[in-house]
Amino acid sequence: MEFSIKSGSPEKQRVACVVVGVYENRRLSAPARIIDQASGGYLSEILRRGDMDGKAGSTLLLHHVPETLSDRVLLVGLGKEREFREKQYRDAVRAAVKTLDETGATEAALYLTEEAVRRRDQPWRVEQAVLVAMEAQYRFDQMKSKLEGEPRRPLRKLILAVSRRGLLPQGEAAAARGLAIAAGMKLAKDLGNLPGNVCTPGYLAEQGRLLAKEHGLEVEVLERADIEKLGMGSFLSVAKGSDEPPKFIILQHKGGGKKDKPLVLVGKGITFDSGGISLKPGADMDEMKYDMSGAAAVLGAMKAAAMLGLPLNVVGLIPTCENLPSGRANKPGDIVTSMSGQTIEILNTDAEGRLILCDALTYAERFEPAAVVDIATLTGACVIALGHVASGLMANDEGLARELLHAGETAYDRCWQLPLWDDYQEQLKSNFADMANIGGRPAGTITAACFLARFTKKYDWAHLDIAGTAWKSGKEKGSTGRPVPLLVHFLAGRAGQGKG
Ligand code: BES
Ligand code: MN
Ligand code: ZN
Repeated sequence: MEFSIKSGSPEKQRVACVVVGVYENRRLSAPARIIDQASGGYLSEILRRGDMDGKAGSTLLLHHVPETLSDRVLLVGLGKEREFREKQYRDAVRAAVKTLDETGATEAALYLTEEAVRRRDQPWRVEQAVLVAMEAQYRFDQMKSKLEGEPRRPLRKLILAVSRRGLLPQGEAAAARGLAIAAGMKLAKDLGNLPGNVCTPGYLAEQGRLLAKEHGLEVEVLERADIEKLGMGSFLSVAKGSDEPPKFIILQHKGGGKKDKPLVLVGKGITFDSGGISLKPGADMDEMKYDMSGAAAVLGAMKAAAMLGLPLNVVGLIPTCENLPSGRANKPGDIVTSMSGQTIEILNTDAEGRLILCDALTYAERFEPAAVVDIATLTGACVIALGHVASGLMANDEGLARELLHAGETAYDRCWQLPLWDDYQEQLKSNFADMANIGGRPAGTITAACFLARFTKKYDWAHLDIAGTAWKSGKEKGSTGRPVPLLVHFLAGRAGQGKG
């Protein structure tokens, strides 16, 4: 879909459709009132007859509204004006796009971007409109032999209204940011939704190469022999249970000065997590194809950073392999030596994410990073703690934590901080090695982060547990593309662009 920004009166738009909001109790929004006045009370009359009540989610398509230059006017119910917040705004834009997809109009001017949303400004509304519109049209049909339910005349061009000319430059920047984030989210969603037999470590590496070629990033893919040479004994111990060879993907966006320290993003790339010898129960095990969502988010964020030409250096590191049971797989009780030299007693082979991440985090040291953020579908406990709304955040630096909290807030892709106190480290004690790879049931999300913290002492580091936010289960099962928006806002903030 194409987007453009425009300021101007709704009744004067020569487009296939103009979209305006109506609040509950038949209260017209400001743009709707302008059309109403121009048309001699045409909209009020329709509301009076009871054809549209302004309830959230309701829509009404009108043709040939008098004294307007557009073919159609779409009324979108916004619900109660006092309760119009972020979610209601996004729902309204989604309802508009879905309705427009069903009409003959392939081009529309959206005036919902002019509605006030508490504590949010015009650029925020523009960025979110782009994201929601792209999301509404997202389909994953690569694996279907026949396309079903495709709209015949989908919306192709969306004009986003801003209330005055002075807001055009900011609006355009916000739309560009929205488009880059949407492209990154689409990449992340496609990779997450692909099944484990297609999206293998080799496939992820190929995607890394393609991404680099398309956007002028630097790429390097380390093979098993290279990984062995580096001494990544922990990562390799997980990989050796599977016949698919592991890969270690290194991507670099060099938008900053030669001497600028890079931000390093590390993504967990388990392309399927069966649990290994500590096998998971069968129910919903298919969902463990999403266990590479951290890796997908890193690829998505790097894509967006490149599209926006962010003036900073970003490194993406992706350790990727499968976690399967076999005659060569890790066994409970096995002890492995990580790249850092620290030894790990593997008490549960299903706590494999931390085993591959710890070596990637040690590898990150060589970049002398400004900061490192790892992104991982790491613990089921995080889903219990925060559900599917917030990602878990833990950090060894408060400033970095605050930056990520703020980025999540502005991106509307929120995370919530959990403590990373040393007191929790007790739970990782092992009788036989430097540490165990599990810390028991209490505070499972925190002890997983505590494990990683033992490998990140040399730099500022934060960990995002996205087990609950990277995908949805149930009827609308699928990858969400989170936390690409959060990461892009974090990077943009570091680059001094936008408002973080
Ligand atoms: N990939 C899983 C985490 C996960 C579980 C994500 C459920 C989403 C939904 C991870 O590798 C894992 O299996 N973690 C274990 C750790 C435990 C053995 C300490 C878990 O959370 O059960
Ligand atoms: Mn696991
Ligand atoms: Zn896992």
